[in-house]
Amino acid sequence: MVLTISVSASKQLNKKIIRVSAFFNEQVGCIKNNIMKRILVTGGAGFIGSHLCERLLNEGNDVICLDNYFTGQKQNIAHLLSNPYFEVVRHDVTAPYFVEVDEIFNLACPASPVHYQYNPIKTVKTSVMGAINMLGLAKRIKAKILQASTSEVYGNPEQHPQKETYWGHVNPIGPRSCYDEGKRCAETLFVNYHEQNNVRIKIIRIFNTYGPRMHPNDGRVVSNFIVQALRGENITMYGTGEQTRSFQYVDDLVEGMIRMMNTGDEIAGPVNIGNPGEFTMLELAEKVIKMTGTSSKIVFEPLPTDDPLQRKPDISLAKKTLDWEPKVNLDEGLARTIAFFKTVVK
Ligand SMILES: NC(=O)c1ccc[n+]([C@@H]2O[C@H](COP(=O)([O-])OP(=O)(O)OC[C@H]3O[C@@H](n4cnc5c(N)ncnc54)[C@H](O)[C@@H]3O)[C@@H](O)[C@H]2O)c1
Repeated sequence: MVLTISVSASKQLNKKIIRVSAFFNEQVGCIKNNIMKRILVTGGAGFIGSHLCERLLNEGNDVICLDNYFTGQKQNIAHLLSNPYFEVVRHDVTAPYFVEVDEIFNLACPASPVHYQYNPIKTVKTSVMGAINMLGLAKRIKAKILQASTSEVYGNPEQHPQKETYWGHVNPIGPRSCYDEGKRCAETLFVNYHEQNNVRIKIIRIFNTYGPRMHPNDGRVVSNFIVQALRGENITMYGTGEQTRSFQYVDDLVEGMIRMMNTGDEIAGPVNIGNPGEFTMLELAEKVIKMTGTSSKIVFEPLPTDDPLQRKPDISLAKKTLDWEPKVNLDEGLARTIAFFKTVVK
């Protein structure tokens, strides 16, 4: 059979073919240049998860965000929904989930005391069953998997600053134990899946992190102070305010997470990711008062049970292994965070 086609139709067809092949080349080029990966982020609609999804998409990856919206919010990821390489799945990590991906970042877990103490049994289940389900998936599909562990595994530390070799000082039956022990058990599971099943694991221990998209009612100190200051309410100081914390800006953390995921299979962690700059709660409150220009006054209340008095990461291992250290200082990070809260606090 001979197919006849007019000159103008043939020109149009040629144009279409050129457009299709340009699109195809662009896609293949993108994959070749950026080595596009399929990445699952559990807890992707949360504070840290949303920044991680954004960064992974910006680097040309195909990202699946899994969340049950317990503490995460759709508005954290609304700006990513128009990206064709971004998918959202409503799912609870305590139930198995199957998908083909190259990497898994396991962040699903409420992180602030008010949220994780709301339903402590569920918090343990999320950490432990979530880890089992995600590790099972990683084993089955041979994906690399990173666990967002926490400085809470050190409890109320007797060593200062905390190195990864320190085993911690945790009350196993206190109000924080559902979170601390859940995360400690998750680390155990990660190491066991690595040793028993050769799963490629990465454990990072995240220290206090702040930034835009923190939940305004999560009760964490940075968001608390900023929200109270912007509303002109009293600023609640627990204890004398002499207790110290180190504060890491979220962009620094995301950089550390990605560097950790990109390490060779021989690096499993745990690696501390935090900012070693140490500030008392009073210093933080004074900075927030000055930067917001509020007339709020500081009021003192008793320290909650098991609240650690000091927390500061030793980041020598991260510097050596990941060539990473935080770049954003507290004043700069607070300015960006205050600007965000001004848009959400009424
Ligand atoms: N923010 C910090 O300072 C900090 C410090 C140490 C560790 N971490 C860890 O980093 C991770 C993210 O913390 P964040 O500050 O973004 O908290 P977040 O509460 O904003 O985010 C947690 C996300 O997990 C989701 N989630 C909770 N339970 C789930 C479940 N059962 N199934 C599916 N999704 C679920 C929530 O809806 C939310 O989107 C957590 O694992 C947390 O333990 C955070």
